[in-house]
Amino acid sequence: MTGGAGRSSPGRRRPPPERSATIVPGVPAPEEHRGDRYPLGAAITLEELDRDPHPALARLRAREPVSWVPALGGWLVTRHDLVLAAMRDARTFTVEDPRFSTARVVGPSMLSLDGDEHALHRAPFMAPFRLRAVRERFSREVEVRSQQLIDSFRARGCAELRREFAGPPAAEIIAGALGLEHAETARLLSWYETIVASVSEITAGGPPTRAGELAYEALSERLRAAIATGGSLLAQAAGRAASGASDMAPAQAVGRPALSQEQIASNAAVLLFGGIETTEGMIANLLAHLLTNPDRARAAGADPGALDAAIDESLRLEPAAAVIDRYSATSTELGGARIGRRELVRLSLAAANRDPAVFAEPDAFTPGRPNAGRQLAFAAGPHVCVGVHLARLEARIGVDALLRLLPGLALRDRASPEVRGLVFRKPARVDATWG
Ligand code: HEM
Repeated sequence: MTGGAGRSSPGRRRPPPERSATIVPGVPAPEEHRGDRYPLGAAITLEELDRDPHPALARLRAREPVSWVPALGGWLVTRHDLVLAAMRDARTFTVEDPRFSTARVVGPSMLSLDGDEHALHRAPFMAPFRLRAVRERFSREVEVRSQQLIDSFRARGCAELRREFAGPPAAEIIAGALGLEHAETARLLSWYETIVASVSEITAGGPPTRAGELAYEALSERLRAAIATGGSLLAQAAGRAASGASDMAPAQAVGRPALSQEQIASNAAVLLFGGIETTEGMIANLLAHLLTNPDRARAAGADPGALDAAIDESLRLEPAAAVIDRYSATSTELGGARIGRRELVRLSLAAANRDPAVFAEPDAFTPGRPNAGRQLAFAAGPHVCVGVHLARLEARIGVDALLRLLPGLALRDRASPEVRGLVFRKPARVDATWG
């Protein structure tokens, strides 16, 4: 889940700004004059960014790497080094802004805070998502769930793999970790969709929806009950937070009141949402990339190393979270652009991941690149993804099972599924056949 206060859907237009004449060197140009300076940005539409952004992003990256995009009501950063620099500089490019729509629905959390407060909210959730802890806690569960899903459609000889395979575990696994029962997943997803609809409403300039508030209240209450029941990862995180142990907060924060149950629940909601749409998108994109390149699919089916390389390369080519939002805490300069104070700065992970200055033949699906680790799908800096190891584990175990258990797995129409999405990018469907 990203804070996405930029435009998420074409529709609402912003009122035209007041006119002012003078342009002062070194001072951000008034918005209405930015079109002259950023003609490529001025020409971009939300439709283009949703449907097939890569050609437009390539033009921006080459000629306006930090461009003013009126359709977003903000700046769009597309060059790898500039996106990385902004992610690492949370003082200048912060998530702390009233427009950070997620916070307006689920309350403040690690996703919408910076500095010591951020560290305080994030610390209790780090240990259970470290690589070893993730392997020990989730491997068996993901194996069993993948097998169950494959058994449910194998005899049919065909399936729509995004909804029938990639989607379900993404929600169930994290819900289970937070102490929710498997049977509650459907209810959880309905809360999720209602809350995401409210976030989109805010992103489009509207107020939070009442339905969204009620859904979050119900979710928060359920998460607090899970904390009280104990035994879950969430209850352990709450226990760690309450311990006031030094590793739970930066030195300066020691002695501050521990996170309240509401704050723990807000962060649990961010964990939940951080892992649902993204993980589903990652697995659906990976299947689309592999089944469009049968040789790569065969290699990945035969060698775990080749599958890991395909996971990295698919995330590079189509990161499930295509953009993340920041706000300029002060007026500043990035890549030659003069950015005013408190302006939206949208960082395009999708564009950075196809920067030819970093990745040779950036539009080609080439698993095994020597610098695959420089791809930014999980972000970088203080807000680097907490769930990276869990996401990778779900993709590795799930796709390995599909390739092993469904010989001849192929796309039904042979055509590469179309990938869409302004913030979360994935194919609407992955129709496959086998046997
Ligand atoms: C392929 C799957 C995933 C992708 C592509 C992804 C991507 C990201 C990105 C780009 C961010 C940075 C957001 C920002 O800086 O504004 C992030 C943060 C986060 N992700 Fe993930 N994520 C994935 C899976 C998960 C999973 C499975 C979880 C749950 C365990 C998760 C939990 C989080 C949390 C809690 C944050 C906020 C960290 C912070 O702000 O300190 N993510 N993720």
